[in-house]
Amino acid sequence: MKRFLYLSDLEREEVRDLLALASRLERQPDRDALGGKILALVFFNPSLRTLASFQAGMARLGGSSFVISPGQGSWQLETRSGVVMDGAAAEHVREAIPVLASYGDALGIRSFASGTDLAADLADETFRAMAEVCPVPLINLESAIDHPCQALADWKTMDDLDIPTRGGKFVLSWAWHPKALPLAVPAAAVHMAAYRGMDVTVLRPEGFQLPPAVMDRARRAAVLSGGSVRETADREEAMAGAHVVYAKSWTAPAHYGDPTAESALRAGLRDWCVGEDWFAPAAPGARFMHCLPVRRNVVVRDEVLDGPRSVVVREAENRMWTQMAVLYRLLKGGGA
Ligand code: CP
Repeated sequence: MKRFLYLSDLEREEVRDLLALASRLERQPDRDALGGKILALVFFNPSLRTLASFQAGMARLGGSSFVISPGQGSWQLETRSGVVMDGAAAEHVREAIPVLASYGDALGIRSFASGTDLAADLADETFRAMAEVCPVPLINLESAIDHPCQALADWKTMDDLDIPTRGGKFVLSWAWHPKALPLAVPAAAVHMAAYRGMDVTVLRPEGFQLPPAVMDRARRAAVLSGGSVRETADREEAMAGAHVVYAKSWTAPAHYGDPTAESALRAGLRDWCVGEDWFAPAAPGARFMHCLPVRRNVVVRDEVLDGPRSVVVREAENRMWTQMAVLYRLLKGGGA
């Protein structure tokens, strides 16, 4: 494996190899595997889990890491092509990314969606432009349209909990949120569950359909795995027999970049907050998943988050084990 940019780049056999390696590293520490190796981490946006789990994971494998947050103690970086750089940014990523790569053996970049240009965000233009000038193994720490590290950890979490693959029912539910949020996590989650072979239902109010490009990628994954993908606005129908409810808010594609219109569409949808009553038609012991951070009693009620259904902390821990597997394969080789 040379890069870890999108889970959809990997064969299912490669995903299975990473998950098996992650479980081995969880059971049996390998403290010298990446001795002397350095990981450079570039965060254009905030993080708790991604930043901490990569640094902890690299240290557990004997390597080290450094973090750059552009504009916070380092130069502000320009990401657009062909602009006259007479604004706040003192340096362009076309120089900064290769420079940082020259100090490390691998690089990770977090670069969220613009939130203004849907076509550019769906094409992941900013992240892909940086990937083009990165000469070392690159990891996507969440880009405009994907969060493969989260997806891999979520897949492992469901495996750990013996949640069925074929025949497993995975509901990705839209949730209300005070802000219009990016499409990266819902796009990653719907693809991951379909690629795992599950029957996936996207539950969302009218106007919050995921873009066709996102649904089509998930459907292609379902064809490969034997799973299925559908969408509905009917909560009772979606929840019938569900093994997992994965909550996330996302912006309405039709009003991308228009917060006033988007906010008007969201008004009146505050009851899209996952509560215990949602699980009445679900499978016994159905689980609640969320990538975190999550707003309590906005996206999900305390009763669910504090109850036995919630596996959110396990998902976050699995970020570290699965990313260690990614680092191991990128920097040490081997695998499927
Ligand atoms: N889930 C996730 O990526 O968390 P952070 O934004 O805290 O890194």
